[in-house]
Amino acid sequence: MRRKLVAGNWKMNGDRASLVELEEIARAAGEHGGVDVAVAVPFTLIERAASFVPTLAIGAQDIHPNDSGAHTGDISAAQVREAGARFVIVGHSERRGDHGETSHDAWAKAAAGHRHGLQVILCCGETEAERDAGRAERVVQAQVEKSLPDDADGGWLTLAYEPRWAIGTGRTPTLDEIAAIHCIARAKMRHMIGDKADGVRILYGGSVTGDNAGTILAVPDVDGALVGGASLTAAKFMPIIAAAA
Ligand code: G3P
Repeated sequence: MRRKLVAGNWKMNGDRASLVELEEIARAAGEHGGVDVAVAVPFTLIERAASFVPTLAIGAQDIHPNDSGAHTGDISAAQVREAGARFVIVGHSERRGDHGETSHDAWAKAAAGHRHGLQVILCCGETEAERDAGRAERVVQAQVEKSLPDDADGGWLTLAYEPRWAIGTGRTPTLDEIAAIHCIARAKMRHMIGDKADGVRILYGGSVTGDNAGTILAVPDVDGALVGGASLTAAKFMPIIAAAA
């Protein structure tokens, strides 16, 4: 039985004043003991957030695959871990779209996160053109195939399916479309890592709100949500946590 995980991704939003939201979110998480709650904040807030709300899992939104070196502007798994991050998001579609990251990059970053004791949320998801062309399932299968580390298991890795066209748009796939992708993603993981795939949570992400969380989280094989905009305030995030409980 996989516990549900509701993870927030603040992206390039938030400042010190926003930390009060985390306090409220931590309180809600405490009230719903059956669900795991986590928030990935900007690098600049990790240390402060981790000490401000020690009961909440604070994470990073990216890391460099290398442990150290001449990589101006980048940050390593060890550095975010030292700052207090417990997990990292890798392969997010905004990293793929804005920075040309590939599934191989996501694989290397997932491995780096694991090496340094971070939980890893590994993202995949098709573009609108790929969905329109009927290629969504093949695209996600290929992304999983190229980015899932051989030693992945549910103890440290979570997969997140985020169709790019659903991110921040208010549009979501149908429940059947979500179910279909989660099913083929799990099948692909089974093919790669065997029974360990059954322990890996698969989150849905893309325009999740308090209004649609209940129905999306009830879809078979949806083990939680990766939430952008609606994670920025406790008022919007708490109903999603409650829906997962
Ligand atoms: O990583 C979460 C994300 O990309 C979804 O964003 O704003 O559509 O919930 P949003």
